[in-house]
Amino acid sequence: MMKRRAAFLRACLLMGVLFAPSLQAQTAKPIVITFSHVVADDTPKGKAALRFKDLAEQATQGRVFVQIYPNSQLYKDKEELEALQLGAVQMLAPSLAKFAPLGVGEFEVFDIPYMFPSKTALRKITDGKIGAELLAKLEPKGIKGLAYWDNGFKLMSAKRPIRLPDDVKGLKLRIQSSRVLDAQMRALGALPQVLAFSEVYQALQTGVVDGTENPPSNMITQRMHEVQPYATLTDHGYLGYAVIVNKRFWDSLPSDLRAVLETALRDATRYGNEIAQQENDAAITAMKAAGTTEFHAQTPEERKAWMAALAPVRQAMEARVGKDLISAILKETAGLSSN
Ligand code: LMR
Repeated sequence: MMKRRAAFLRACLLMGVLFAPSLQAQTAKPIVITFSHVVADDTPKGKAALRFKDLAEQATQGRVFVQIYPNSQLYKDKEELEALQLGAVQMLAPSLAKFAPLGVGEFEVFDIPYMFPSKTALRKITDGKIGAELLAKLEPKGIKGLAYWDNGFKLMSAKRPIRLPDDVKGLKLRIQSSRVLDAQMRALGALPQVLAFSEVYQALQTGVVDGTENPPSNMITQRMHEVQPYATLTDHGYLGYAVIVNKRFWDSLPSDLRAVLETALRDATRYGNEIAQQENDAAITAMKAAGTTEFHAQTPEERKAWMAALAPVRQAMEARVGKDLISAILKETAGLSSN
């Protein structure tokens, strides 16, 4: 049923792309920005996307209509990137772990375990020169990067308690399509399996995989807590997004409109990044209340053991994401350990 609906929506969109009159010829009709994403509306990304829609539609007074398709309704992870390049959708906010298929593996630097000691450190990178340079790498691929959106730091969940790195050994763990995440799970002795986000709940439920990692807001909104009896608050890695648009579409917009949309996006970004932590904290509280998952807070010794087990990943991934990039980030963030 879900699949048929998604296929129907995609066919409608494709017809729109093939038979759309040029922007100039349709001045009276609103310009439609189709924004596809894979998480629920009730998440940091979902809420920021809805805020962007509201702000953009209000500020452009009917000249722009933002159509949001959440929850992989339209496309799954990999398909949505292809759709953006083809122009079948105009806007996405994929996780930074999913940019390698576009030929920009450097974004996987955000997946390196314990790379960012705090949100302050992270923000210094995403709001600074390094963040801008990374987004610029998308342009030759026909994509313009407009903003970074937060989700948060990840926890590990599984079918059995995971206190020490050794507890993860031999578990089949779902990851996003990132080589750094693959290396991270292998460093723990786990068996990483790439799955689209929309497939995770069922894979956990049926035992195709034993566990996964995600920020709490993703875990609760996909009901993963119902099928994951144990979780440890590891904060071992970050999950965030880049808001990206089809460059040809973006460049073709009248410049006054583009400026208004940029302001709307800036405000939506501020809002989304402000609420992300609260959303994740609230998700933990709600999942604890649900009582289906036992949450473990790490002791300082346990944390040290995880950091030691995952330390080799950074060096091992230098060739993948760039030694200079890693060094530049470490230099910029040195000493920024408080949240
Ligand atoms: C995942 O696949 O786990 C996440 O990237 C989903 C998302 O967009 O937060």
